[in-house]
Amino acid sequence: MTEVAKTTVVRTRAELRAALADAARPVGLVPTMGWLHEGHRALMRGARAESATVVVSIFVNPRQFNVASDFTRYPRNEARDLAMCEVEGVDLVFAPDVEEIYPPGFATTVSVGAVALPLEGAARPGHFDGVATVVAILFDLVGAERAYFGQKDAQQVMVIRQMARDLAIGTEVVTCPTIREPDGLALSSRNVHLTPDERAAAPVLRRALLAARDAWRAGERDGERLRDEMFEILTQEPLADVEYVSIADAVTLEELTTVDRPALASLAVRFGTTRLIDNEILDTTTGTATDRGL
Ligand code: PAJ
Repeated sequence: MTEVAKTTVVRTRAELRAALADAARPVGLVPTMGWLHEGHRALMRGARAESATVVVSIFVNPRQFNVASDFTRYPRNEARDLAMCEVEGVDLVFAPDVEEIYPPGFATTVSVGAVALPLEGAARPGHFDGVATVVAILFDLVGAERAYFGQKDAQQVMVIRQMARDLAIGTEVVTCPTIREPDGLALSSRNVHLTPDERAAAPVLRRALLAARDAWRAGERDGERLRDEMFEILTQEPLADVEYVSIADAVTLEELTTVDRPALASLAVRFGTTRLIDNEILDTTTGTATDRGL
């Protein structure tokens, strides 16, 4: 008979500390906002493969939603999430209330510099302050050896790396590849809001990014031409409302005139009320599935 260890759910900082006090090391942390899907599962598996204890946090973080209605309409289903954590062999789920993370009188914001300003930072003012603040709290509370994030949110990983380095937090930030639907659409909790027509149109994000990647592989090094290429493909889709297309330095996120160094091709597109993002790295030296380090 095989015994499957049950996932323990804790809701307070004190319970979390107690549960972690004698936890086997190393500890791997997967921060999430719930409504878990295959993308999150891939992070859990990454963590499971190299940690003795896997901790998943489920917390819809109000501070990272710059539009209040986005926070209230964010999908939630804790029972389903916990069942998925159990299947993935997660040891501990931390699912706190808002007041547990932000008690009355909470007044501190972690604001990361230049890398948080363009792209998502420009489109969603305050978003990365909210992300960096909650992830700093989670890193401190859990004290994990490693934490796992998705390449789907490429700028988020860069912001978190910068935050962890600057605050001397000893948690290694590990990036895992983007998990996609068979038609190329990156999995996202927000996909649930797409109408059938919008869902059918959404793979255009991937097509635009692959076109830019193909052009770059064929030798195109003009940043503006690569951005135009993506923009033209996106605008052929009537339901797509383009927010930005970018070919930026993969380290600083400055827009590139000439792609003479590793670059991040990224875009944000609205379909009705749903905003989707995706990206592709343009770098001759990468190609590995998992990217580590600072
Ligand atoms: P959430 O959107 O729930 O995502 C949790 C983690 O899953 C993030 O690291 C995200 O990049 C990753 N992820 C989402 N979709 C993915 C996909 N298709 N393939 C691979 N990984 C994917 O990102 C957040 O929550 C929050 O900002 C958080 C970091 C938890 C802070 O509140």
